[in-house]
Amino acid sequence: MYNEIDFDKIDITMEPPVEEPARQYYFIAKCRRQVQGLKRELGRQPTFFIQTFGCQMNARDSEKLTGILEMVGYRQSEVEEADFVIYNTCTVRENANNKVWGRLGYLNAYKKRHPNMKIALCGCMMQEPEVIEKLKKSYAFVDLVFGTHNIYKFAELLEASLAQPGMVVDIWTDTDKIVEDLPVERKYPFKSGVNIMFGCNNFCSYCIVPYVRGRERSRKPEDILLEIKRLAKDGVVEIMLLGQNVNSYGKNLKEPITFAELLRKIEEIEGIERIRFMTSHPKDLSGDLVEAIRDSKKICRHLHLPLQSGSSRILKEMNRHYDKGQYLALVKKIREAVPDIALTTDIIVGFPGETEEDFLETMDVVEQVGYESAFTFIYSKRTGTPAAKMECQVPQEVVKNRFDRLLEKVQAIAAKRAEAYTGRVEPVLVEEVNAQDEALVTGRLGSNFVVHFPGSREMVGKIVNVELKECKGFYFYGEAIT
Ligand code: 5AD
Ligand code: SF4
Repeated sequence: MYNEIDFDKIDITMEPPVEEPARQYYFIAKCRRQVQGLKRELGRQPTFFIQTFGCQMNARDSEKLTGILEMVGYRQSEVEEADFVIYNTCTVRENANNKVWGRLGYLNAYKKRHPNMKIALCGCMMQEPEVIEKLKKSYAFVDLVFGTHNIYKFAELLEASLAQPGMVVDIWTDTDKIVEDLPVERKYPFKSGVNIMFGCNNFCSYCIVPYVRGRERSRKPEDILLEIKRLAKDGVVEIMLLGQNVNSYGKNLKEPITFAELLRKIEEIEGIERIRFMTSHPKDLSGDLVEAIRDSKKICRHLHLPLQSGSSRILKEMNRHYDKGQYLALVKKIREAVPDIALTTDIIVGFPGETEEDFLETMDVVEQVGYESAFTFIYSKRTGTPAAKMECQVPQEVVKNRFDRLLEKVQAIAAKRAEAYTGRVEPVLVEEVNAQDEALVTGRLGSNFVVHFPGSREMVGKIVNVELKECKGFYFYGEAIT
């Protein structure tokens, strides 16, 4: 395992190994020498700043980047004015890209005053050829650019960038490779994301993810179980299994296994008290999975089940492979099996050709299901996706009006759902001391609602029973029951 390796003993005068992860260990060793040199030059330990955009996958990737940066000798900085700045980007909607372009403007000005700093960009946005063109043409001050498929090579790319001036660019169009056992530095000691698969094969017509994250690849169950056992030993009590579509986990493995089977194996791991997962595609949610959730003592009573639209016609255009009736039937089946489950969702407003009638179908599903929470998005045209070529893009003011109406409904229903929890005693994983009031701690219920209650720093990372005293819409005030 990587933390048993003495990197300073690796002979960097030799040619780098071809095999992974040995090759990356070699480059970590090389980077360590370079960073030591930098430290002598600066007269202090060099710092790094990492900014993550987008989803939980990216958050987990950033923990991997952080692991390498700390291993090679950088110290994490909370402010952007650092010696090494890296943005792990998202491109799911246009505004995610815009944020990055905006921040780069600021960094350019900073770098002019600190020419020795390094700027790196990685993640989903870098998988778009137009982005790379634009960077090469107008953002020559950026030092290192890589994508989603070769993130495991970060140490090797960092070494190349530290060794030479100018822009190092390495973008792959796809990969079938999964490299295990690289350094990772968790943000929270007591909870962790665990990748179970990478990529996506669904090709929803609006979505850029299959193009930037490549084809679906599942990790082997034994690698996943080993990682979780190690996490449990290290004090982790809650894990979030990550994949673009966890319900199709294991289908492409040499020895196929289902997601429900994987969950049953994880359930047996001592020390793990809570299991979450994200994201479930409704089309692949099996009866077996519903039973696995029902029978589990550890799987949280929370399911994120993206709806996207309530209109069967639009769902067909979206290539979602379910219709309104099937979605509602699935919800009914889940609620019958697991009555106390909290449901959350993603909804897109303003997909090309969406009429008022289509939109009202979405409002109807929101009403019928009664989500505990919903992420609502305005449709964003992504170049290269089938929907970008569809006619009848909906006018902005119509979309805005629908978005506001949807948000209002979602919030009113979520507040009602939350209210129903008031008075209950629920197990809560304490995540942090409250930033506004040090006398309070903040934690999450299994259903993912947030609760603040009187407590102390020692409670962080522990699961305590809390009485939910007062509902504040989408969070609670409570009191620990001892
Ligand atoms: N426009 C708006 N929202 C999108 N999503 C994915 N692609 C787009 C797009 N082009 C939303 C979906 C998905 C969530 C992660 O982002 O609702 O579930
Ligand atoms: Fe995550 Fe998708 Fe954004 Fe990539 S494009 S960071 S996979 S949400």
